[in-house]
Amino acid sequence: MKFISVAIDGPVGAGKSTAARECAKRLGFVYCDTGALYRAVGLYCVRNGLDPKDPSEAAGCMGKIKVDISLVDGVQHVFLNGEDVSEDIRLPEISMAASAVSAVAEVRKALLGIQREIAENNNVVMDGRDIGTVVLPNADVKIFLTAKPEIRAERRYSELKKKGVDTTFEEVLSDLNERDYNDSHRAEAPLKQADDAVLADTSGLDFEQSVELICGIVEERRNVL
Ligand code: DC
Repeated sequence: MKFISVAIDGPVGAGKSTAARECAKRLGFVYCDTGALYRAVGLYCVRNGLDPKDPSEAAGCMGKIKVDISLVDGVQHVFLNGEDVSEDIRLPEISMAASAVSAVAEVRKALLGIQREIAENNNVVMDGRDIGTVVLPNADVKIFLTAKPEIRAERRYSELKKKGVDTTFEEVLSDLNERDYNDSHRAEAPLKQADDAVLADTSGLDFEQSVELICGIVEERRNVL
């Protein structure tokens, strides 16, 4: 059986995970947030005093860790050596560690199979940085989701505030710019729009409008598949 795959890539805070999750729900597809895998590796480094920026330390830890994702009541959970780390991976310092380890070829290689396997066995909406370019180059629908940096930072800032994280808008904006720079300038699978991806800008859109935009692109493409 051929499953349908929707690849959504884009920079930090473009609304990928929230909009993609809702879009997957409406389509009846599985949602896969691939950033969570890199976050789990980043978390392992931080917890074990390894430097995520040191490629040999990040690569070396891959032999010691097992990262899995599974759905619990339709929601993706991430497991690091059997422990559910879905909450712990969301802290800002883990975002930066995830970005650092994601530049390491051995880390990317180790996580590639998990992502492809999900798409081989499910209708999926998968989001990340290299889904349309590397993970699923033959995805049925590819979307590059973006928005102006200040707008993305504002969204991320209010998300973190709601969770009680002590930060400022300026700090969030500066972290976001640093992470986007790292993610799009690395040698391995850098963040970039696939040639055949549809560009979707959510700058002026609220959550519902962003979901409608993505679902609309998917439906339009599905009609010609
Ligand atoms: O989507 P996110 O913010 O949770 O991702 C965390 C980091 O993981 C991001 O800064 C870069 C990396 N990442 C990646 O390199 N490739 C992906 N497909 C997903 C995330």
